[in-house]
Amino acid sequence: MNVTIIGGGYVGLVTGTCLAHLNHIVTIIDIDKTKVDAINNAKSSIYEEGLDVLLKEHIGKNLKASLEYSSIQTSDIVFITVGTPPNPDGSSNLSYIRFAAENIAKEYMIGHTQHPIVVIKSTVPPGTTENIVRKTIHGSIPDVNVGYCMNPEFLREGRAIFDFFEPDRIIIGSSDQVVIDKIKELYEDLDAQILVTGSTAAEMIKYTANAFLATKISFSNEIGNLCKKLNVDVYEVMKGVGLDHRISPFFLNAGAGFGGSCFPKDVSSLASMITQHDLDPVLLKAVLSINSNQPEKMILLLKNRLVSLNGKRIAVLGLAFKDNTDDIRESRSIPVIEMLLSASAVPVCYDPKATKNMMQVFPDLIYCNSAKDALKDADGCLVMTEWQEFAELDAEFSLMKNRIIIDGRHILTIPDAEGVCW
Ligand code: UGA
Repeated sequence: MNVTIIGGGYVGLVTGTCLAHLNHIVTIIDIDKTKVDAINNAKSSIYEEGLDVLLKEHIGKNLKASLEYSSIQTSDIVFITVGTPPNPDGSSNLSYIRFAAENIAKEYMIGHTQHPIVVIKSTVPPGTTENIVRKTIHGSIPDVNVGYCMNPEFLREGRAIFDFFEPDRIIIGSSDQVVIDKIKELYEDLDAQILVTGSTAAEMIKYTANAFLATKISFSNEIGNLCKKLNVDVYEVMKGVGLDHRISPFFLNAGAGFGGSCFPKDVSSLASMITQHDLDPVLLKAVLSINSNQPEKMILLLKNRLVSLNGKRIAVLGLAFKDNTDDIRESRSIPVIEMLLSASAVPVCYDPKATKNMMQVFPDLIYCNSAKDALKDADGCLVMTEWQEFAELDAEFSLMKNRIIIDGRHILTIPDAEGVCW
């Protein structure tokens, strides 16, 4: 099929490249020339395992990026994968969605296929597909029979290519049979359970899934904070709990808390929707509050051991919000570094991929090229990201001035690290 993707960010780039790998002919549109040029040179603007290889395989063949919207006219399917950043009150800013819908309408006015289909993949509040996308396009071109679908993405950063090809499920949010059949055909090479729902239900599924996963993490952190007081290893507890098939062993890892561009934003956005409907988001407020308190727990453990942080050299291992990514958005290392700085400590940072991005937030910190360099002469160490290479650290810790090591991710294998919840 001919597919256009509007938005060459994380979701659009991964989706477009993977659809090209399923033999579709894909154009990714973005307003940023640097991004478009990079994609056309088979260079990804983000670090995502396996993405560069697929880009190289398909760019210039059945995949290209463009600043122009004209490919929409000949596309069977147009995906909207633009960002929906949070407003100051936690609600979603939908201006990029509106802009994309307006541009689709303009191109359909010039020319269009038989039954053009617009698919929303961005995470959008319930009702957006109907009330914003459909209304914007239909308002401009009432005589064109456009089909609409909400098809949420469930890709995890760092594992997005795997998740695309091995999805747990594909949600097709549409009541239009032509659309449903076409989307099924688009993904026919994937072995996935398909669930057809209304578009608003599909929008809710995405928020609910992310909020539930975030709730599991905060729940584990609350139990973990008690376990710490009781001198019990929360990982042992959650292993026993997760063996119950009704609970499952996943997303029960206690520690520094969740970060990233999705969980904090989506939970806040859902809480804000609940408030707008005169309800009190009691549970979601607690999820966010537990999450924002976890980084401070790491600082308190450090303070207990060092008494004062003033002038102390603290190795911060891990800057990305999780492993296998260079993304630092809402990374738990950001509040930790802020707290270290306000206590007049000296953070000495290392991350395998995210240093460049963190330099934009904190240009004046000391950044090292290896964990070993960061640990040399350190008075303490905080492990903020679950990078596998940290599991292999051992002799490097003997380079520290004071061997005080706080693990926020249960990743270290040395016997004397203190866990935030264990
Ligand atoms: C999340 C969802 O997992 C994806 O399904 C969804 O598509 C995506 O958001 C999105 O909405 O686009 P992502 O943010 O990439 O994916 O990362 P996760 O692997 O979910 O991790 C999020 C955060 O939770 C990380 O900071 C991670 O360290 C933390 N985490 C995860 C825990 O603290 N404990 C856990 O048990 C699991």
